Amino acid sequence: MILVTGGAGYIGSHVAVELMAQGDEVLILDNLCNSSRGALERIAQVTGRMPGFIYADIRNRRVLDTVFRDYPIDAVVHCAGLKAVGESVREPLRYYATNVGGSVTLCQAMADAGVMRLVFSSSATVYGDCTQMPIAETCPTGQPTNPYGQSKLMAEHVMRSMAASDPRWSVGLLRYFNPIGAHRSGQLGEMPSQTPNNLLPYLLQVANRERAVLRVFGTDYPTADGTGIRDYVHVLDLAEGHLRALDYLRQAPGVHVWNLGTGRGHSVLEVVSAFERVTGVTVPLSFESRRAGDVARCWADPSKAAQQLGWTARRDLECMLEDAWRWQCYLAAQVEAQGLFQLPNTGR
Ligand code: NAD
Ligand code: UD1
Repeated sequence: MILVTGGAGYIGSHVAVELMAQGDEVLILDNLCNSSRGALERIAQVTGRMPGFIYADIRNRRVLDTVFRDYPIDAVVHCAGLKAVGESVREPLRYYATNVGGSVTLCQAMADAGVMRLVFSSSATVYGDCTQMPIAETCPTGQPTNPYGQSKLMAEHVMRSMAASDPRWSVGLLRYFNPIGAHRSGQLGEMPSQTPNNLLPYLLQVANRERAVLRVFGTDYPTADGTGIRDYVHVLDLAEGHLRALDYLRQAPGVHVWNLGTGRGHSVLEVVSAFERVTGVTVPLSFESRRAGDVARCWADPSKAAQQLGWTARRDLECMLEDAWRWQCYLAAQVEAQGLFQLPNTGR
């Protein structure tokens, strides 16, 4: 059985689906602070099975001990965390408490229970403003400019230290580039509870006429069309990377770092025009100055994951956008049909 913390969230729910599709038993532990029980029902819709679910906080050591005592857990995929950069600047302690403190508590409970295989949701943000492209795992980690990025880097340090002190650990640090897209069925995807900061969720809400205009942050970057370039990776490809990492870690003690990206960068304007091409929906734009903390270019060298894990992202940008739009349309139809929305934080 695999414990997926944060498994009701965007990435964790796709990891849960992929694990269940290959026949694994999945137990999700989530405090639903940025998700809802609706995600569990959607996982069941997609897979035909309900995952196990514990409504709990990763900072609650007592509950974690009970979970490890009561369930035959072989490994943990640790996706639970807070991820909004702006919020992390306003509430740094909450971010450190969850992303660092919560990870420490989880690892302590794992070690005491003798569960020593861990896959962690890290981020390309740990590379800071690395200018060498593509970014390989050997690039030094930088100085993330915000508490969110710092908390991810600190959690990585924690896991490195603990694995150095105890050879029973097998830890995979997965540095995600820019996950977008949704499950092919259109029934599972990202469900932002606040005004989105990231490009794709914002673009989808503009395309859905929930917001008037997509602001393009910066048109004077040293890139072909002046807008920022990122490595967008399909969330299902990303989820598959977790499965490969879990397999690899069976035979590989120590800490392993893998970039999960496609190795291809796309500018903001390329994303918008690909979206318009794929969906036939026009996205109104306004051109704004650069967003603080943004880098001009960021894309992965994913060759280590290819060599060691046999993992490569298979889905292209058009597929990511098509799948994301299918999910957005499904959500909109649900809202219209039911006249209600399952909000996060309600625990319902
Ligand atoms: P998400 O917010 O959709 O999912 C995170 C889940 O963790 C949510 O369901 C939330 O309720 C849960 N959670 C938060 N704090 C918790 C706590 N204290 N106890 C239990 N559950 C808790 O975010 P996501 O996009 O699925 O991201 C998953 C992980 O991947 C995060 O750690 C994030 O930092 C990391 N990451 C995400 C991205 C991205 O672009 N989405 C990029 C790089 C890294
Ligand atoms: C952001 C975070 C990063 C985090 C990642 C995943 C910042 C500075 N960085 O990365 O720490 O790990 O999300 O959660 O917030 N853009 C627009 N208009 C928008 C939104 C974005 O033009 O409304 C542009 C950005 O300037 C950037 C690109 O789109 O060039 C991608 O932005 P985004 O989706 O926010 O991801 P990152 O900036 O890579």
